[in-house]
Amino acid sequence: MQILADLNGKRMPLSEVMVPALDRGFLFGDAIYEVLRIYQGRSWLLDEHWQRLGRSLESIRIQGVDLARLRARALDLIDASGVQEGMIYIQVTRGAGVRRTHAFPPQATPLELLWVEGFTDPYAEQRRIGTSVITLPDIRWDRCDVKSTNLLANVLGSQAAKEAGCLEALLYLPDGTMTEGTHTSFFGVLDGQVLTAPNSNAILPGITRGLVLRLAASAGITLREHVLKRDDLKRVSELFLTGTTTEVMPIVRVDDQTIGNGKPGPVTLRLQEAYREVVREFTQ
Ligand SMILES: Cc1ncc(COP(=O)(O)O)c(C=O)c1O
Repeated sequence: MQILADLNGKRMPLSEVMVPALDRGFLFGDAIYEVLRIYQGRSWLLDEHWQRLGRSLESIRIQGVDLARLRARALDLIDASGVQEGMIYIQVTRGAGVRRTHAFPPQATPLELLWVEGFTDPYAEQRRIGTSVITLPDIRWDRCDVKSTNLLANVLGSQAAKEAGCLEALLYLPDGTMTEGTHTSFFGVLDGQVLTAPNSNAILPGITRGLVLRLAASAGITLREHVLKRDDLKRVSELFLTGTTTEVMPIVRVDDQTIGNGKPGPVTLRLQEAYREVVREFTQ
């Protein structure tokens, strides 16, 4: 199936998109991105993703992007693609200089690339039975709050998880503070309270994480933004991941340890159902 893309306002199949070798996204990972879920042909949590996109651009000082126009183009591309279930990927790089220099080139124009990809939910079964994860040292840089395409540490962590037969790697800092997954946020239930790492430069402010905070509040579930330590994982009764395509994913095993009774826990299931319900309302 052909994937429809938009490169700097020009529509074409993704397979025909060419970017210059001097593009800084390619050379330096000097770029930011967003991924939005599409449910029944409509983009989910659009305002939240656009706000984060704007913040990422500002944080790394990419200028000259018309966010309103980019947003209109994203919506048009979704319509034109006909995709009902899937995602839209949006990447903005600092553009290409006339030669390779680390400092910003004086006249680069940002490169904007979008594409829409249809899929059948790949996680439906795992969401029902729960998934396994490993833990790994967090070797990323100090601005993980920026959604940049500089993802080498995340790539290596994700590959290590895959090779261990797991869906995700949960990352921890040298002092044992758990941060997040390589491409997901995560939550734990400890002593009856749901905990997740507070927003800081150590984690991405996950859009799904934000929604789950709101869903927990309206369901009367006690949820605190509070650090979980690696040692706490031995005592949690539940763990779950959140992310745009992952949604709310129960974890039933961490490294060699079974979580709870090895089945998705009650709080996770309630939040999973609350998530499904708001998506149902959105698509009706
Ligand atoms: C490092 C990291 N943390 C968390 C998330 C989850 O964020 P969101 O809920 O916005 O998809 C992602 C998503 O790609 C991520 O890359």
